[in-house]
Amino acid sequence: MILVYDSLTGNTRRFAERVGGALGLPVMPLAHYPGGDALLLTYTFGQGEVPGSTQRFLAQHAPQVRGVVSSGSYHWGTNFGRAGRRIAENWGIPLVAIINKAGSQADLERVQQWIVGQS
Ligand SMILES: Cc1cc2nc3c(=O)[nH]c(=O)nc-3n(C[C@H](O)[C@H](O)[C@H](O)COP(=O)(O)O)c2cc1C
Repeated sequence: MILVYDSLTGNTRRFAERVGGALGLPVMPLAHYPGGDALLLTYTFGQGEVPGSTQRFLAQHAPQVRGVVSSGSYHWGTNFGRAGRRIAENWGIPLVAIINKAGSQADLERVQQWIVGQS
């Protein structure tokens, strides 16, 4: 499993690196994705929107994306982390977790467990 992330201010990247680092898995930004089974980690922008960069990635690679994690901020209320729910609905990709900012220890463990369960 490759962990591929989209991150504007670094929260999603930091979470992806923590998850992948502990499991010894490759972690990379969208532009470096070489293909293969992937967990997509992205963030929420606008009013609960999927970043355009993530939308373009999905248009090309959605069939290889096994799950999605979305970052957001509690501050956004009902739009909290909504990018992940939108991706699940629009692309049929399982939603693994919605995390606040760079995520908690519980988020880390949950996502790692999901990855281990995939292999
Ligand atoms: C302009 C803007 C709009 C945002 N809109 C939302 C939103 O609708 N829902 C949400 O949960 N978070 C929203 N956020 C918060 C980011 O998703 C959150 O800070 C996330 O951790 C950023 O990830 P990154 O550091 O990987 O870029 C917004 C942030 C910015 C700057």
